[in-house]
Formats: sequence, C-alpha cells, structure tokens
Amino acid sequence: MPGHFTQPHVAQLKWIWYTVAMAGSAQLRLFRTKDIPNPNEYVQALKGEYSRWAFNEEEAPLKRGSWRAEVFEVPPESPLDLEIGTGNGYHFAHRAAQFPERNLVGIELKYKPLIQSVRRAINAQAENMRGVRYNARLLGNLFAPNELNQVFIHFPDPWEKKRQQKHRLIQKEYMDLLHTLQQPGSLIEFKTDSRSYFDWALEIFKGSPYRLERVSFDLHQSEFAQENFVTHFEQIFLRQGLPIHYALLRKSPSAGV
Ligand SMILES: C[S@@+](CC[C@H](N)C(=O)[O-])C[C@H]1O[C@@H](n2cnc3c(N)ncnc32)[C@H](O)[C@@H]1O
Repeated sequence: MPGHFTQPHVAQLKWIWYTVAMAGSAQLRLFRTKDIPNPNEYVQALKGEYSRWAFNEEEAPLKRGSWRAEVFEVPPESPLDLEIGTGNGYHFAHRAAQFPERNLVGIELKYKPLIQSVRRAINAQAENMRGVRYNARLLGNLFAPNELNQVFIHFPDPWEKKRQQKHRLIQKEYMDLLHTLQQPGSLIEFKTDSRSYFDWALEIFKGSPYRLERVSFDLHQSEFAQENFVTHFEQIFLRQGLPIHYALLRKSPSAGV
C-alpha cells in the first residue's frame, strides 16, 4: 500500500540498543533504517532524495558536537534550536522560514512525518534545518553539552493511563539532560492538550533547574495567544474545543553547564 509503513518482521531487523538512565526503561532500542526489508517511499526518501536534509539513527550521532561547524556550516555563535516530535512539520517549517538566521534540528521517530516536515520546510524555502530519525529520549547521543539554544516540545504523546506515565517524555532526568545540553538563557516551549500530563510536567518543571516564565491552562484565552503558532495537533484539539496548556521555561543566563 503506497505511503503505508509496513512494520518489518522483528526477526529481520537489527536493533541498536541503548542503555539509558530513565524512569521505568533501562534500555531502549531503535531498528536500523538500512535493515528495513521493504522500505516504503518515506524510508527511501530518507536514504535518497532527502538524504542531504535528514539523517538516520546511524548518521545523526556522528554530528554530535559539530552541528554548527559541519552540518550548517555557520559560526559558533549562530543559534541552534531543536524541535522534539515534529509531526507533519507545520511548526518546524514555519519556524525555520521565519528565522533564517537561526538553525533548526527536528527529531521524529517516524519516517512519514519526518519526511513531511523536511519537505514542508524546503517548500517554504527554508534550508536552515535538518531532520533526524531518532528517539528523542536519547538526546545525549545527538548533542553535546551547551550545544543547543531553544527547544520546542509540542503535544508529546500523553500516555494518559497511570501505568503508562513512565513513558512520558517529561521526567526529572530528561529535564536534567536538556539543562546540560542547552546554553544559559535558553528557553523550552511546552504545549499539551492533556491536563493530566500538564499537571505532571508542572511538578517536574518546578523541581527542575529551570525558571518557569509563563504558565497558562488556556493558552488561546491568554495574553500569550497572539504570538503563538498553532501546530497541526493544536488545530485538531482547538476544533474539539479543548483548552491548550502552555509553559515556557528558561535556563538561568548565569547557569553553568
Ligand atoms: C502528537 S504528535 C505532535 C506533532 C507536532 N508536534 C504537533 O504539534 O502537531 C507527537 C509526535 O511525536 C513523535 N514522537 C513520539 N515519541 C517520540 C520520540 N520518543 N522521539 C521522537 N519523536 C517522537 C510522534 O511520532 C509524533 O509525530
């Protein structure tokens, strides 16, 4: 079926195993793009047409510490931002096009949204971006301490059930990792439609080294609405009449790595 990702038989795949210190999951695994037996059009695009713009799980870690110098070929002071879970890339393309003087990396686990994101940015004449097929839980493999500026986390999977909450991206250890990777003064923008996830995240944010600069339980009725860009998932939730929860965090300008 064109455009449909066929999950390959597990026995046919080689996995890359990673050990991570995260609540509830001692190990994570990612299968290798090159071992997918029947690559669909998006997997092929990652290896072919978009190989200049998007990196797979084997290529991306090789860029660690050299995104500015080698990938974007920009000076060390040029800002490098990160979007986690780009989805189909509405925000990714918008952000890259709106800020040509900045550089943007988008991480996406799934091939189809990854390619859609990169294609959307290219169509918007934004070449200051790259996509990465990777598990965002393993960010430390992709970026060195102090390498990142702003980070966007929009509508991460909510894992609503109590027994699933250990899968949520926002965890104490994850905030510590982001804090190490971001430069002093950098921001994290977080949005979700899930009240339970937001309450959970707020607790973790408050216990983290970040300063909470903005909080809204209903972003679109707040003073922050005007400058907000509506992402694809946000659009869907807004049509359902759901309030959007929003937080903006800042790493202290005087913080060390
Ligand atoms: C609910 S969608 C939101 C997409 C987009 N940010 C938006 O607001 O429209 C979440 C996206 O995160 C991706 N994702 C989920 N877990 C991920 C992970 N661990 N690493 C990278 N991407 C992930 C999913 O594939 C999906 O595209």
